[in-house]
Formats: sequence, structure tokens, C-alpha cells
Amino acid sequence: MARDVDLGRRDVEGVVHPFTDLAALGESGPLVLERGRGIYVYDNEGREYIEGLSGLWCASLGYGNEELAEAAREQMGRLSFSHLFGGKSHPLAIELAEKLKETAPCPASRVLFCSGGSEANDMQVKLTWYYNNARGRTRKKKIISRHRAYHGVTVASGSLTGLPVVHGDFDLPIGGILHTACPHHYREGRDGETEEEFTARLAAELEELIIREGPETIAALIAEPVMGAAGVIVPPEGYFEAITAVLEKYDVRLISDEVICGFGRTGEMFGCQALGFRPHSISVAKAMTSACFPLAAITVEEDLYQAMVDESRKQGLFGHGYTYTGHPVGCAVALKVLEIYERDDMVGQAARKGRLFEAHVARLAGHPLVGEGRALGMVGAVELVADKKSGKPFDPASRVGARAVEFAQRRGLICRAMGDSVALCPPLIIGEDEMEEMFRRLEAALDDTERWARGEGLF
Ligand SMILES: Cc1ncc(COP(=O)(O)O)c(C=O)c1O
Repeated sequence: MARDVDLGRRDVEGVVHPFTDLAALGESGPLVLERGRGIYVYDNEGREYIEGLSGLWCASLGYGNEELAEAAREQMGRLSFSHLFGGKSHPLAIELAEKLKETAPCPASRVLFCSGGSEANDMQVKLTWYYNNARGRTRKKKIISRHRAYHGVTVASGSLTGLPVVHGDFDLPIGGILHTACPHHYREGRDGETEEEFTARLAAELEELIIREGPETIAALIAEPVMGAAGVIVPPEGYFEAITAVLEKYDVRLISDEVICGFGRTGEMFGCQALGFRPHSISVAKAMTSACFPLAAITVEEDLYQAMVDESRKQGLFGHGYTYTGHPVGCAVALKVLEIYERDDMVGQAARKGRLFEAHVARLAGHPLVGEGRALGMVGAVELVADKKSGKPFDPASRVGARAVEFAQRRGLICRAMGDSVALCPPLIIGEDEMEEMFRRLEAALDDTERWARGEGLF
């Protein structure tokens, strides 16, 4: 196939890029990726990169998996589309719902499918409202999220997200969404405050918020077990235990957003299991299909499902659903992915390789540019700082994290900067030698960044 050297120009003229500095894109141009195999992807000039973030924390089985391609191909041939509206069904949606109910770390009575994480969390908001209306608790509607959280970008899920860039000039968040503190001791802890004291303070602040707003108005709290887009924040030990106690006291539902953490990423099947809490419901997406097909879901507990049945009697039917709810090709891919996870003990592998991953991050924490290294299982980040001793951050305008990612890319590693935290979340299939190489490339990129920062007088 002839190489289209004009792809970059055509991209800039035709494609709107999410979460991209659109003003700068015209100059820098896109990175055009053409193919992938294992943990590697290749650009349109044939350069190879380790995909250190599994795309967007999602391609857990890597690229070019023939079994998944075959599962999709076979289902496309058998029944390329079917939906679940008006009581229609197909065997794969039934089977996948059963599998998810079996593995869910929460009381799952039913499964509701959709296409992505934002939609899943959007449904969590809608169903929480629906449930409380059905149960006559019409004031119990507010949903608590956390600053720096990422739960998606639709009007409701974008409101749950706690990042200014997702709210600014989009007129978000909508009313009824509250944000409490982010459990990042390194950045949010007060001088001399231990992790234990920090956790106790955050639980007390959450309780104050609930009391101030009125417990009869607070319906749910949504949380990522490990906060990915915040820069991979692993909460202190005991954090979820402390906030769960508060939520139970005021009859507040706990929703675990497992969109990144689900299916082995943290070394347990679900992130809430790694962090020792039991939610009422989970949102899952990404690794459920190893990102080969857009498919997501939420679990529905029995009482909520019965409320939905009651509403059907009242309203005539359950008035929600998407054309692609339970898409059969997505379900076929997800079932094959779950089969591979089980057959190849991917969760056990992630736990074992996760210990190595965590050790690599801990080692990089010693780098002069790194203030904190954070990891749980196979997801982690290093936070770059202007002063290692005090933890003083760089001026955001210097875009040090973004520069580190550029240097990494030149060295054949794709990773992601959230502010000055540089994250890694490689495919779970990564080999130990490949992991070694990934961290070698990151370390070299940090050295490049350090040299550049010194040259700019930033460091
Ligand atoms: C924790 C979490 N929730 C929700 C989402 C949104 O998922 P999507 O981009 O599929 O809408 C993401 C995306 O990265 C995520 O990390």
C-alpha cells in the first residue's frame, strides 16, 4: 500500500481531536498510527512504539489478537446486529449478563449495557434519580464525586468529572452534583499530616458536606478505586473503609467506576476488591472487550431493578436504552476476552507482573525529577516536580509533563501526561523483558526532560 504522506495535513483539516490543544495541533500535527501487534504500535512512517498506556487504559490484551478478531468476524457473519428494545434479545447478551453477574463484586441482579464509560456513568446518575423517585424519596437526588475524578464527558458524567477543563465554558457541572476532596496525600495533605490523619479528615469533610446539604438530599457517591486521569491516585490505606462508614450512616449508594480498574488492572478482578470496599453498583467498559469494540455496562441491584419494574407499570415501559445496547459483536468480543482472562489467569498474571511494575515505579521515584511514584498492580505514574525535597510543582505553563511525553515518544514509548504526572498502564500481556524495556525508555525520557528543564532554567 502506498504511504500517504499527506495524512497529517488531512487529519488537521478534517478531524476534531478530543482532549487535545487544538490551537497547537496545527503546528505539531498528529501521530498517525497504522497497525499494532502485542504491546507495540506502528506509525505511518513505520516507527515502532511500546503502547505504554494500552491506548487509553483499555487495550488490556494488546493489539492484533487473532482470537478476538475471529470472535468478531464470526459474530458479524452470524448476526451482525440485534438490539434489546421491546423485549428482543440474543444469546450473547444473555450469556455476557450472566458472566458479569457471576464476577461482579457487588449485589448484581441485572446488567444494563451501553457503549462507553461516559454512558455507563450517565446511566448511574439517571438510575439513581429514577430509583429514588420510584421509592418516593424525591429529594434524595444529589450525587457526590471527587475533585480531579474522571467519569466521562456527557452532560451528567462530565459533571461528575472533577476536572476544570471538562467544565469550563461547557456550563458544567449541572446542579445536584457535588465534589469532595481527592484522596491524594502527597498533594492534598497538610503540613505534617499523616496518611491516617488525612484519611480521617477527608471522611469528616465528607460527613460535613452531607450534613450541610441535608442527608435526605444525598443519593450516591461515585468513585474510581484508583483515580486514573487525576494522575493515577492510589488512595491511602483505610480511605474507602472510612468513607464507606460515612455513606452507610446516611443511606448513600456507593458506585465504583471500574472503567479503568476493572478486569485485573490492579491485580484483583476489580479495583474495589484491591482496595477493600463493596459498592452497590459498578460501571465497566474498556478492558471488558480489550477495547476491540465499544461496549460498557452497569450492574443493577435487585431493589433498584424492582423499582424499575414498578416504574414500568407506572410509565408504561422503562424509557431508556441505546441502539447499541448489548451489541452482539461487542458481546461476542467481551465473552472471548473474559474467556481468555480466565484461561490465561490474566488477573493472577497482573498481580505477579504488578509487583514488578510497582518495583520499577518505586525505583523511578528516586529520579531527580520525580516527586512521587504511585502504582497499584499494572497502573502507575511518576509526578515530576521542580523541587524533589519540598515537592514544589513546576509552573503549569512550562508543560513539563507534556515535554516528558514528547521525549518518551521520540524514544519509542507512548505514555500520557496528566499535568506533570506521567502515567503508564501497559497491556496486561506485557512480558517481563518488555516491561524492563518500557521502563528503560521512560527513564531515558526523564533524563532528556531533566536536561531540557535545566537548560530552560526550570530546575
Ligand atoms: C474511570 C473512567 N470512567 C469513565 C470514563 C469514560 O469512558 P469513555 O471514554 O468510554 O466514555 C473513563 C475514560 O477514560 C474513565 O477513565
